[in-house]
Amino acid sequence: MRKIIIAIDGFSSTGKSTIAKQLANKLNYIYVDTGAMYRAVTYFALEHNFIGVDFFHSEKLIENLDKIIITFKFNDIKGFAEVYLNGENIENTIRTLKVSQYVSPVATLSEVRRKLVEQQQLMGKDKGIVMDGRDIGTVVFPDAELKIYMIASAETRAQRRFKELKERGDNLTYEDVLENVTTRDRIDSTRKDSPLVKAEDAIEIDNSKLTIADQLDTILNLASHNISK
Ligand code: DC
Repeated sequence: MRKIIIAIDGFSSTGKSTIAKQLANKLNYIYVDTGAMYRAVTYFALEHNFIGVDFFHSEKLIENLDKIIITFKFNDIKGFAEVYLNGENIENTIRTLKVSQYVSPVATLSEVRRKLVEQQQLMGKDKGIVMDGRDIGTVVFPDAELKIYMIASAETRAQRRFKELKERGDNLTYEDVLENVTTRDRIDSTRKDSPLVKAEDAIEIDNSKLTIADQLDTILNLASHNISK
């Protein structure tokens, strides 16, 4: 059976990764969360004090990019690949609101994008991959066989993210999360290099009122149809 590339793009917290993970497991494909890669670079920048409340020494981060090695290792219990920065498992650490607050400015840097896009393209060279992010169908794999563009209202997304973070024990308000979601929407879709836009040939799915099972069903159908072409 032929293998394809499935690109899933969309704003933050549209539930891309939940669907992408399940899709990859069903199809026996590799799943790559590219947001985790941008978060890993951001975590590195925070740890080295290259970015903070009122400063961003982007030139320092760029100088040190070759010290950042990002890898993924499949976790059998969780059923997906976790992200590692220089050998350290940072899968949970990068999901905090703090990293979320700094990731969009970091992701505007072309040098950062070039490094990560190169690695992403390598990971997909043999196809059989589900990748989610902002620029997968437009920049990373413009020839991907199946492109999905997920949308949902900012309130729905903030509500979902708030619930997740609360369950983890993070201390924050719904308003903090909504503010982060809308700020990231703005930066991610207006940046110069690879802004979030819907690829012309992407299929839009508004999941505000769809269950995860419905979404998975829809995308699996599209994928099966495409694979058997
Ligand atoms: O998917 P996420 O929320 O974990 O992504 C975190 C940030 O990374 C997001 O606000 C923008 C950036 N990002 C990007 O610029 N390009 C990608 N392909 C994936 C994420």
